[in-house]
Amino acid sequence: MVILVTGGAGYIGSHTCVELLNQGYEIIVIDNFSNSKKESLKRVTDITGKLFKVYNTDILNKDQLNLVFLENKIDSVIHFAGLKAVGESVSIPLRYYYNNVIGTLNLCEVMNKHNVKNLVFSSSATVYGNPKEVPILESSLLGATNPYGRTKQMIEEILKDLYNSDHSWSISLLRYFNPIGAHESGLIGEDPNGIPNNLLPYISQVAVGKLDKLKVFGNDFPTKDGTGVRDYIHVVDLARGHLKALENVSNSTGINAYNLGTGTGYSVLEMIKEFEKASGRNIPYSIVEPRPGDVDKCFANPSKAREDLGWIATKTIEEMCEDTWRWQINNPNGYIENNKIIFTTSDSRLSAETAGFVMSKAE
Ligand code: NAD
Ligand code: UD1
Repeated sequence: MVILVTGGAGYIGSHTCVELLNQGYEIIVIDNFSNSKKESLKRVTDITGKLFKVYNTDILNKDQLNLVFLENKIDSVIHFAGLKAVGESVSIPLRYYYNNVIGTLNLCEVMNKHNVKNLVFSSSATVYGNPKEVPILESSLLGATNPYGRTKQMIEEILKDLYNSDHSWSISLLRYFNPIGAHESGLIGEDPNGIPNNLLPYISQVAVGKLDKLKVFGNDFPTKDGTGVRDYIHVVDLARGHLKALENVSNSTGINAYNLGTGTGYSVLEMIKEFEKASGRNIPYSIVEPRPGDVDKCFANPSKAREDLGWIATKTIEEMCEDTWRWQINNPNGYIENNKIIFTTSDSRLSAETAGFVMSKAE
């Protein structure tokens, strides 16, 4: 089975590539490296010992996407490529709508043309906006509260319309809760640009000494200790959820949304304690005003994924923190751009810069 992975060089994509290769799938990665480095894909090869094709291609370029489908016999697509920073999406909404929505339209059009109709899409718990009640069910009301979230909600609607127009499509909408952690090898992990927005990357940069102290956004929420509660999920569990969804879309038609979370919420203060335990470092923090738009509690009811896909999250909060720490301590500055990574050109109809490449093992 040949799986096209868009955005495969990114945080969740690279972990999913490892799981796919380990399960014997053949993969083809498309990425424009706008928020990732080629080094992550080299490390996927280091972990798995397997080579795969990589296209340095933008999904906004429909002609190039078409060539990727002409060159390869693709069975299914896992679609991670997208911009994901909430704050940035408020400042530059058009770029977010353009990249995420138009990119997905292009992909679906080209898939349709080549009769590839199995799709696993990266949605987000952000589509629920301010949840009325927790744990959140897939049937809960949707109401994204920022442009990033609205791109995800719109894409979900577009994909539902697509399925309604043609019942031979098979689509899984995976609504991730809060992915954290890293591969246990410490070779791949989350590599945010600049100062992190999300809690765990921020805590781990405090622990490693890159940042002075954590600002805890509010301690007066109606939660167990007043700080925000979230459903943190290990990125490897999340990656494995994609394989389960892939099996499901390959064996059926339809469109289904699934919550991928653990079902358990942890507060900010609990996460600080867990991370201190995992790292053996002190995490200084101060309480500041709540971040505008933050919800008090957000955690999943993940039973639909268990029942339909046979998937559950298995990794503990300790493993999530230990693996995050191993990645952080081994790679204090994230992936370093490695100019020695040379891709060997395959016989491609694409231009030299964007051609289909095979990762060269020797590099
Ligand atoms: P990431 O930024 O690490 O990975 C996304 C990848 O897509 C990057 O490698 C980037 O270079 C690539 N990309 C972006 N636009 C592209 C384009 N036009 N053409 C080709 N490649 C493009 O993000 P991630 O954390 O791995 O997230 C993957 C997906 O999951 C995203 O769609 C994101 O919105 C969604 N998601 C992430 C989280 C999270 O907390 N990380 C939560 C919910 C949903
Ligand atoms: C954020 C995004 C959401 C996305 C999710 C997973 C926002 C407003 N929302 O949500 O769309 O789906 O990440 O990627 O950005 N916190 C601190 N100090 C910090 C950072 C965070 O106290 O420096 C707190 C937050 O208030 C929250 C918790 O930690 O209670 C988790 O924050 P974060 O990691 O940003 O995730 P979400 O708020 O769930």
